[in-house]
Amino acid sequence: MTRTRVIGSRVGLGFRCRAGVVADPKRPEGAGRMERPEQGLGEPDSHPRANGCSLTGYGALRNGYVRGLPETETEIHHIAHNGGLYKRPFNEAFEETPMLVAVLTYVGYGVLTLFGYLRDFLRQWKIEKCNHASEREEQKDFVPLYQDFENFYTRNLYMRIRDSWNRPICSVPGAKVDMMERLSHDYNWTFTYTGRVIKDVINMGSYNYLGFAQNTGICKEAAAKVLTQYGAGVCSTRQEMGNLDKHEELEKLVARFLGVEAAMTYGMGFSTNSMNIPALVGKGCLILSDELNHASLVLGARLSGATIRIFKHNNMQSLEKLLRDAIVHGQPRTRRPWKKILILVEGIYSMEGSIVRLPEVIALKKKYKSYLYLDEAHSIGALGLTGRGVVEYFGLNPEDVDVMMGTFTKSFGAAGGYIGGKKELIDYLRTHSHSAVYATSLSPPVMEQILTSMKCIMGEDGTTFGKECVQQLAENTRYFRRRLKEMGFIIYGNEDSPVVPLMLYMPAKIGAFGREMLKRNIGVVVVGFPATPIIESRARFCVSAAHTKEILDIVLKELDEVADLLQLKYSRHRLVPLLDRPFDETTYEETED
Ligand SMILES: Cc1ncc(COP(=O)(O)O)c(C=O)c1O
Repeated sequence: MTRTRVIGSRVGLGFRCRAGVVADPKRPEGAGRMERPEQGLGEPDSHPRANGCSLTGYGALRNGYVRGLPETETEIHHIAHNGGLYKRPFNEAFEETPMLVAVLTYVGYGVLTLFGYLRDFLRQWKIEKCNHASEREEQKDFVPLYQDFENFYTRNLYMRIRDSWNRPICSVPGAKVDMMERLSHDYNWTFTYTGRVIKDVINMGSYNYLGFAQNTGICKEAAAKVLTQYGAGVCSTRQEMGNLDKHEELEKLVARFLGVEAAMTYGMGFSTNSMNIPALVGKGCLILSDELNHASLVLGARLSGATIRIFKHNNMQSLEKLLRDAIVHGQPRTRRPWKKILILVEGIYSMEGSIVRLPEVIALKKKYKSYLYLDEAHSIGALGLTGRGVVEYFGLNPEDVDVMMGTFTKSFGAAGGYIGGKKELIDYLRTHSHSAVYATSLSPPVMEQILTSMKCIMGEDGTTFGKECVQQLAENTRYFRRRLKEMGFIIYGNEDSPVVPLMLYMPAKIGAFGREMLKRNIGVVVVGFPATPIIESRARFCVSAAHTKEILDIVLKELDEVADLLQLKYSRHRLVPLLDRPFDETTYEETED
């Protein structure tokens, strides 16, 4: 096998190098000559151009994604050449959709759309029974409520495969779950329950990363005890009668776990984002948000009244360009400097399986004197040697993240969210956040579940069980991802991400895959448009520490069979060994300003 040596570099931070040649990687961190946004404009032209990137090697740029692995074994030296930002390999790949698959996928949607219009026509003339909501005769002069494209899509495309979603489960979401059997006699418009329970379905869909979602063991014992002592509900907000000793204890523990000065907890992860972002920024502020950020971040950003600009997913050139433009041009019309610039990112992106390029984001936020809000919903507990999340994963300092947000719904098997950071920040949020002031606080047994699982991860229960769970998750993730790649699937994301998207592409395969897997007693989550780009439908697996190797091997064996049946092995790079390869090969041409 030929050995090609490619010297790549990280993108986005403005250190200069020619394609394939690394030059002066030691750009001092935060060496930009910008003023704080509030204090005036800087001198951006003294820096290399953010858009002066070029393509090198075998990859083509697509939102910062690579085109796929080379045919030859390739040794890529990138870690040492990124200004020392990355202390560990960062292996993330997004193989490009094969052309034929893309064409067939569009054709599939085209055929479905044509049939959809035909059936709508038949429904209109009462030739086919109409099950969907539509305007009555006397309403026909109003602006239609039900007849836009989304409803067309729901009626004619989603309805065909609706049985793949919302299937009720009737057990803890552990490594295996029990599901209620249901049938539809009218092509998925309605469902009836047979009363039968499908037992021990292998659960590849829940966010139970560390396996703490259990109805046995120390967390359950502790939660049950607290339930007896405190009851289930608090019936008040934190500012009124809803501030329990357990809340105080939990917040101290969370702050210690994160390595920050203080933390505040909330009853819901979603509202932690949507209600706290408006407390942090407002009119005259700028939010720079990753295009794939979660709906709760998007809602929070919109509610805040700040100006929102979107950068391409995990793409540091795109982020830097927005930052630079924001400093150069200031606010629209008035040209005043922005009051604050807040960057919103997630630790692990739950549809892509990608990990935020945190070292680069932090360097950029320092360089341009902006603030960073990090949502660790999926990464807390799931990344880092001791489960402290993406900050630990990259060996960074928690103080470099201004707002550390996360949820307890995933790795801790509980509910709620938190924000951690400096004491002034948390004190401010205690009195200004709507979810602190107006929402009922966390329930005591839920808090106990979090307290017990968090102490367990920290080893404060006197065992090594938590640490072993973190390690087990990392091993399971790597094993599962490696085997899938070897089998020839196109898998998105980072090799350390327990979120594993397996590409299905064609609309017909979404439903078929979910059904075939369930026939084999494996529960999976399938995702299509509008949650993904139209041609990038996928199955999204969540690996858990609760999965044994035996369970993963069963899943892999069945997957192999289903893949042959449905022709899912799209990758053109089978059996390429795992490589220490960069995310893309973009380099900066030397530029003179
Ligand atoms: C990135 C991200 N943030 C916030 C949330 C909302 O959290 P919760 O489901 O705990 O309300 C989610 C939910 O999945 C998420 O993925």
